[in-house]
Amino acid sequence: METSGAWLKAKSTILLATGNPGKIRELKAILKPLNLRLLTLADLEGKILEPEETGADFLANALIKARHYAQASGYPALADDSGLVVEALGGRPGVASARYGGQNIGDAARNQLLTREMADISDRRAKFQAVLALVGHGESYLAWAGELAGTIADKPVGEGGFGYDPIFLEPSSGLTLAQLTLEEKNRISHRAKAGQALAKDLAKVDAFLRDYEDK
Ligand code: IMP
Repeated sequence: METSGAWLKAKSTILLATGNPGKIRELKAILKPLNLRLLTLADLEGKILEPEETGADFLANALIKARHYAQASGYPALADDSGLVVEALGGRPGVASARYGGQNIGDAARNQLLTREMADISDRRAKFQAVLALVGHGESYLAWAGELAGTIADKPVGEGGFGYDPIFLEPSSGLTLAQLTLEEKNRISHRAKAGQALAKDLAKVDAFLRDYEDK
């Protein structure tokens, strides 16, 4: 990972503010080269209830989650808000990606729903978008965005990844993201690009975390 020569001065603790196992797996690998102690919600005592994601865009929802978990845990929190934006569907499912077709229908049913909706549509363009937001005390925050362009497959293919990966065709390989290994996905994904932007900003992250620890 490109870190622009910057390095965190001391190992700092950050809480990964997500319960999504797919995101946790990817974020841990993406952020591994950085000098961070990463906690997950499972490392905390007691259960913190999930906040409602009422924001109008990915940044707003990432901030809702990071602020909620930072406040509840006492740790600076890094939240990912992400989703699939389909051109021919006017940007749907977008910020509602995790809840598309119903909160509890599961990824497989959601992928079927979307491919069925796209059955007669020739414009297959879509993109994954991700925003990572780091929040400490109060209102201040740092945020980074990443995007991956591709197309919607006719039907789900592949067993890897999570969410919409089986129906998202990545143009350079011609494969769905679910056919890539974790390492391959983490070289190109929207989340990885946001992580790379964070890594380029490491001096800022360091100052942000030092400020948090001083308060
Ligand atoms: P949220 O950020 O928790 O609101 O949920 C994001 C949702 O977008 C996930 O539950 C997935 O359905 C979808 N999503 C985000 N990133 C990915 C990805 O890398 N692959 C597949 N689906 C994703």
